[in-house]
Amino acid sequence: MSNPSYSIAVLISGSGSNLQAIIDATQCGLIEGKVTGVISNRDNVLGLERARQAGIPSAVIKDDASTAAYLAELSPQLIVLAGYMRVLGAAFTRQFAGQLINIHPSLLPAYRGLDTHARALAAGDTQHGCSVHFVTPELDAGPIIAQAIVPIEPNDTAEALQKRVQIAEHQLYPQVIAWFSTGRIALHNDQIQFDQAPLYTPLLVPATSAA
Ligand code: GRF
Repeated sequence: MSNPSYSIAVLISGSGSNLQAIIDATQCGLIEGKVTGVISNRDNVLGLERARQAGIPSAVIKDDASTAAYLAELSPQLIVLAGYMRVLGAAFTRQFAGQLINIHPSLLPAYRGLDTHARALAAGDTQHGCSVHFVTPELDAGPIIAQAIVPIEPNDTAEALQKRVQIAEHQLYPQVIAWFSTGRIALHNDQIQFDQAPLYTPLLVPATSAA
């Protein structure tokens, strides 16, 4: 049963394929809630068109103060960064602590920052993946909620690996948001709680590869 009172805001910068996966998950009932607003820091990106197609209000906002003001009006329970390429300031991340999450294309704490796929290949890693974590002032360093592992194949390229990791992202992010929407995840004093118990290692979400 969908819980329309659970409201989710999504912040994007680009194509919004994760946004689409989240919208789809609200529509099919995996997520018991609704995306009530989309903020992009860039004009004319595909993600804004996806919001429009789904009938979700959106805005282009390029600074922390205006983003916080828009969110204060929307008053979502969860704020989801989905390919949001602006670094948010410490005051912003503190204001929304515990309700601000991000997806990052690596098995954190490995490979914070950019070009994660190429860096994993250059290091000779045998596996890569993606992580959903709480956002804190330090970039890509907040408590890690859940991860999906993607094996690295012989002769892999950064592009091919990125595509497979994105398929995993589109499964991992909706699953984690579904857990939020049913109250299974919370952050108390920097400690993640899952089903009311402390979570000491990230949850592993099995990701199936593309059909
Ligand atoms: C994703 O791969 C995410 O891991 C990274 O940015 C990308 C955004 O893709 N942070 P999209 O806009 O959701 O298609």
